[in-house]
Amino acid sequence: MNLQPTMHRAVKQRRTGSKTNKTNNSFQKTDPSVNTNRNRIALVSGGIGGLGEAICRKLDVAGYQVVTTYSPKNDNAQLWLESQAADGFAFSAYMIDVSDFGSCEAGVANIQNEIGRIDVLVNNAGITRDATLGKMTRENWQRMRQTDLDSMFNMTKQVINGMMEQEWGRIVNVSCIDSQKGAFEKSHFGSANAGIHGFTKALALEVARKNITVNTVSPGYLSTSRMLRIPPKILRDKILREIPVGRLGEPAEVASLIAYLASDDAAFVSGTDIAINGGQHMH
Ligand SMILES: NC(=O)c1ccc[n+]([C@@H]2O[C@H](COP(=O)([O-])OP(=O)(O)OC[C@H]3O[C@@H](n4cnc5c(N)ncnc54)[C@H](OP(=O)(O)O)[C@@H]3O)[C@@H](O)[C@H]2O)c1
Repeated sequence: MNLQPTMHRAVKQRRTGSKTNKTNNSFQKTDPSVNTNRNRIALVSGGIGGLGEAICRKLDVAGYQVVTTYSPKNDNAQLWLESQAADGFAFSAYMIDVSDFGSCEAGVANIQNEIGRIDVLVNNAGITRDATLGKMTRENWQRMRQTDLDSMFNMTKQVINGMMEQEWGRIVNVSCIDSQKGAFEKSHFGSANAGIHGFTKALALEVARKNITVNTVSPGYLSTSRMLRIPPKILRDKILREIPVGRLGEPAEVASLIAYLASDDAAFVSGTDIAINGGQHMH
């Protein structure tokens, strides 16, 4: 189901962005009204979540037409779209279960038919279900793998050939600090999210010659509702003490990094796993 706020503009025009990369180091003044992003469509999975909303807004501000997804259990999507529209953000939202290949295939096909070909894909949707391995159920393990790792294949598979044909694309896969440094009760989350970067590196090699970049972003702990559900004492005495800058990250800070990776300026950045964690883990 496609949900749109009343102020949504239907834009189906083709992208006209340049495929060429800048190869010199001279900076030139350009007309600020010329923004190649204006003709580009960005698809962000899980845009109604804490980080996803910031990514959608940042990409909108950068000029992209932003489409997002919501899960089948989310009955708040229309209200969210309306609240975004009230703030001037004209997003579209499609119900897609990122853990289910058929749902991604049908959902992204709808987006491509109704909105247009995807230029930028941000694989952001994910879950947490903390448990020690001793207490972890097989269902919990599988659910995590399907949502956080299989989703990379399920979503990216739908857009990669289109990006190859148009010889331009940006894919940003959202992982987590816990995949880089290890974390208690997260053997399933850590392994699924570490797998994300293996996927990133292989795909980055396959598509590099087509002006498509693929990168992983691994945020540390952010001030989203997911983190703010943690008891304040644990947040203050345990988590914040481990973060050298002394605070949680802001979703907008991560969104800015993702907007950079989505831009023409980031054409030489591919196959990386960028940590953005306030210095909590350096490697
Ligand atoms: N918050 C942090 O501190 C933090 C730190 C590092 C990395 N991250 C990563 O950032 C990403 C976003 O996290 P968040 O903090 O914004 O979490 P969040 O608020 O819980 O949002 C998660 C999003 O994922 C979507 N989602 C979950 N399962 C789905 C499914 N089966 N199909 C479709 N969508 C599904 C949810 O959609 P609905 O809302 O529609 O159900 C929701 O929008 C995750 O990949 C997470 O691992 C977060």
